[in-house]
Parts: sequence; structure tokens; C-alpha cells
Amino acid sequence: MLKDKIQTALNEQIKIEGESSQIYLAMASWAETEGLGGTAQFLYKHSDEERMHMLKLVQYVNERGGKAIVPEFSQPDVGYKSLTNLFQTLLNHEIMVSEEINNLVEICLNEKDYTTHNFLQWYVAEQIEEEALARTIMDKLSMIGEDKGGLYLFDRDIESISVTTNSEV
Ligand code: FEO
Repeated sequence: MLKDKIQTALNEQIKIEGESSQIYLAMASWAETEGLGGTAQFLYKHSDEERMHMLKLVQYVNERGGKAIVPEFSQPDVGYKSLTNLFQTLLNHEIMVSEEINNLVEICLNEKDYTTHNFLQWYVAEQIEEEALARTIMDKLSMIGEDKGGLYLFDRDIESISVTTNSEV
């Protein structure tokens, strides 16, 4: 049985993962309307991954005898000035998510819930990968700058990049 404190913290994380999915869906839609088809596909996939992160938590809470709360989401921002602006927002968001996962891990240790602690290790590994990928993308964009040919190649190549290599999804 989950302790109330753990259940509340996991339900907060369910909301964060679901909101991440909504944010990346809005980003995908923005990219699509800007003619950035490869970037849009990358972000649609990323949005799906975040929904999986949410589902995994929902099922874990219920399996442990708790009650998962399916959250309400606020409408995500849809105005991005540029690809760099979009991916900087994504990187900042992932850094925030990593901090939240770390807080959750700390709560589990304080509450001596080693089962949830173990479950969360998948998210810890996932965050390392997601942050690294977002930083790599930002490095590429900063090299490209305003070069139209470079942006064309970026958009063509990003579609084949997988968000997740963390295999247990
Ligand atoms: Fe599920 Fe990108 O955090």
C-alpha cells in the first residue's frame, strides 16, 4: 500500500508528465504550421513518449493499491519565435522535470519506500537521456545559426532521432 505522501507526490508527477505531452504536442503543431515537417514528427513522437511516462505512473499507483488521479491540463503556449526558442523551452522544461523526479526520489528515501524508489530509477535514467538529447539539439542549432540550408538539413535529419533509447517503455 502506498503512503499518502508518496501517492500525492506520484499524482503530481502524473500531471507533470501529462502536461509535458501537451506542451510537446503544441510544439509539434507549431512546427508543422511553420513547414518544419521533420521537427513536427520528432515532437509528435516526443509527445507520445510523455504520455507513456504518464501512463506508467498511473498504472504503478493503481497497482500499489493507490488511486491515480487523471489530471486537468492547462492550454500550452503556442507562440515560438524560432526553432532555437522552441528547443530552449524544451530543454528548460526537461531540466524542471528532472528536478521534480529528483525530489520524488528524495521523498521515497525519506519515507523508506524502496519499491517506489526502485520504480523511479527508470525515470532518472530517462531524464539523463532527454536532457542530453535536448542539449545536443541546442548545440546543433547554435552552429547552424540563421543558415537556411543548415536549417533545412536539421529539419530533415531530426525526424530520424529517437527521443528514447531507454528500452523498457
Ligand atoms: Fe517524461 Fe521528458 O519527461
